[in-house]
Amino acid sequence: MLSTFLPPPTQQINSKIARRAGVDLYVLRLDLMHPWVNGNKWFKLKYNLLEAKQNNFTTLLTFGGAYSNHIYATAAASNLFGFCSIAAIRGEERLPLNPTLHFAVQQGMQLVYFDRERYQQRNTTALQEYLRQSFGEVFMIPEGGSNLNGVRGCTEIASEATDFNCICVACGTGTTLAGIALSLRKEQRVLGFPVLKNGAFLAPEINNLVENYFACGLPTPPDSPASWDLICDYHGGGYAKVNDELLLFSQQFRQEHDIPLDYVYTAKMFYGVMDLLQQGFFHKGDRLLLIHTGGLQGNLGIEKRLKKVLS
Ligand SMILES: Cc1ncc(COP(=O)(O)O)c(C=O)c1O
Repeated sequence: MLSTFLPPPTQQINSKIARRAGVDLYVLRLDLMHPWVNGNKWFKLKYNLLEAKQNNFTTLLTFGGAYSNHIYATAAASNLFGFCSIAAIRGEERLPLNPTLHFAVQQGMQLVYFDRERYQQRNTTALQEYLRQSFGEVFMIPEGGSNLNGVRGCTEIASEATDFNCICVACGTGTTLAGIALSLRKEQRVLGFPVLKNGAFLAPEINNLVENYFACGLPTPPDSPASWDLICDYHGGGYAKVNDELLLFSQQFRQEHDIPLDYVYTAKMFYGVMDLLQQGFFHKGDRLLLIHTGGLQGNLGIEKRLKKVLS
């Protein structure tokens, strides 16, 4: 079954802005690995699915918002690898289902809805016990696949990117950044672009993820982690907020480079990198690898909302 996943291509971005700055710009296209289970989502799911299989679970249960890339990918991966799947969705049921949830149901996922207050309790023993009593022995994957298995999978994203001195990635929880930093050498640098406002709050959480990973004794290269920083100025108004500038940027970028970007994550990071290049933030001779973390399914819902701006 793993043969249905393509190795992600690394593609050069032929950009005037990068050339002027003397910087080599490349993108790692995780979005092309599989039509449905792609991006960082696949890496975060991989070891969760393995652990579930090894422990003979037949059903996966996870959590997410109504437009979640994680719900979409988990539904498809469950179907692909022979698991039943259940998702606890934040908020009330809205019919007709949006494209993300419609797809999830088509893949066989059962949806249950939790109001925001209840959803907040998703990581408590009490709520998890309730879910086990309701649905039996289920293998639970946290929201976004953001656990130790998730970090472990993400150590495989850029481990071969040894000839790049700077890796750029969009951040929601920072799990992907943590995995990437753990797989690289100290002299390499990872720049995270939080898509939430005031993203600096992620720094101690990423430190925790890295420390927990070391504590559990999983292998890392001898001189890891890479140094990492958060660039918090490109959230574009906050999580899932899309302004006209970002829309225009994404459309022009696609026209120029034939690379579609998702508005919630990757477009904000690419926008940030292009802006920093213009500001002279990077050095001549830098080799940048931008991680395309997928998430394109989410554009359907957003484009539906933004039809007017796009027309
Ligand atoms: C497409 C996409 N890119 C980036 C991220 C950010 O990942 P993380 O939460 O690991 O920081 C997410 C969320 O998982 C995502 O769906």
